[in-house]
Amino acid sequence: MKTLKVALLGCGNVGSQVARILLEDAEDLTARVGARLKLAGIAVRNPDAQREVELPRELFTTDAEALIADADIVIELMGGLEPAGTLVRSAIAHGAAVVTGNKALLAAQGHDLAVLAEEAGVQLSYEAAVAGAIPILRPITDSLAGDHITKVMGIVNGTTNFILDAMDTTGAAFGDVLAEAQRLGYAEADPTADVGGHDAAAKAAILAALSFHTTVDAADVHCEGITSITADDVAAAQDAGYVIKLLAIAERLPAADGSDGISVRVHPTLIPRLHPLASVHGAFNAVFVEAENAGQLMFYGQGAGGRPTASAVLGDTVALARRLVIGGRGRTRSHDVTIPALPIAQA
Ligand code: HSE
Repeated sequence: MKTLKVALLGCGNVGSQVARILLEDAEDLTARVGARLKLAGIAVRNPDAQREVELPRELFTTDAEALIADADIVIELMGGLEPAGTLVRSAIAHGAAVVTGNKALLAAQGHDLAVLAEEAGVQLSYEAAVAGAIPILRPITDSLAGDHITKVMGIVNGTTNFILDAMDTTGAAFGDVLAEAQRLGYAEADPTADVGGHDAAAKAAILAALSFHTTVDAADVHCEGITSITADDVAAAQDAGYVIKLLAIAERLPAADGSDGISVRVHPTLIPRLHPLASVHGAFNAVFVEAENAGQLMFYGQGAGGRPTASAVLGDTVALARRLVIGGRGRTRSHDVTIPALPIAQA
């Protein structure tokens, strides 16, 4: 049976869960792919750092380029623009398929990377970059490919939803809740990207670009975070029958001259307490998509955290690996392995 070498770049909350799943579920993944997915190594800055998941020390290296040079699939989970951008380009140049969850990189350079990957004939997937475990990008790019999306709106940052939700339900102060969100592994290494709205703006840029078949620079997204929301604001919203949520909104909007245009923005919003978005609690995310023919769709699930986000990364990895196994023709089930019959439990 063929072996596909997987190089993992980064071993934070998400990376360590991806490594754990690749090791623990190796047998199942092999059955689903039709090839062995071998975790060849994990490139990190400090191999001896304390990590949430215990992983074999020999997997760690500081030489990301050497790992990439020998890989079939590169999973980039370092975050930030550099060195992640250079390493993703290097992976594409080496002909490796790339999975990334790096929304900042995709929002800034996603179009260029997609063009590079297409020219090199390699696959690039990034479902994990938006809304954690929720399958949202593939529905937009594949399931709705024959429709016209008119609006995408929702909660796409788990940290800020966790903070606003705790302020709403317990009356807690902003600063106290942020520390808890960091402890639970929802927040970015630098949480100013979360609370300042920039993480949501990057996700909004990706959603808008894919939904409206255009390019959107995150720097052009109107962005207002939640740092100035006080306990008094939350209480006043409650008294009026509202809850405050940080929303990302991308919609088709005619420009001043009547030509096609879009609006992409992130800001705190008053939501009536009976609206479905009002009952999105904790670090959960929810995204509404409106399309001309499909009408309104709603996607809901865990939007942050190591395990949920790792699920999306593994989904992309298995999908890419299947295509590598059969040379790009696409297949949903391996014919190289026996699928065991499972007993059906009686009710
Ligand atoms: N910090 C991000 C969030 C992680 O809170 O949503 C998931 O992208």
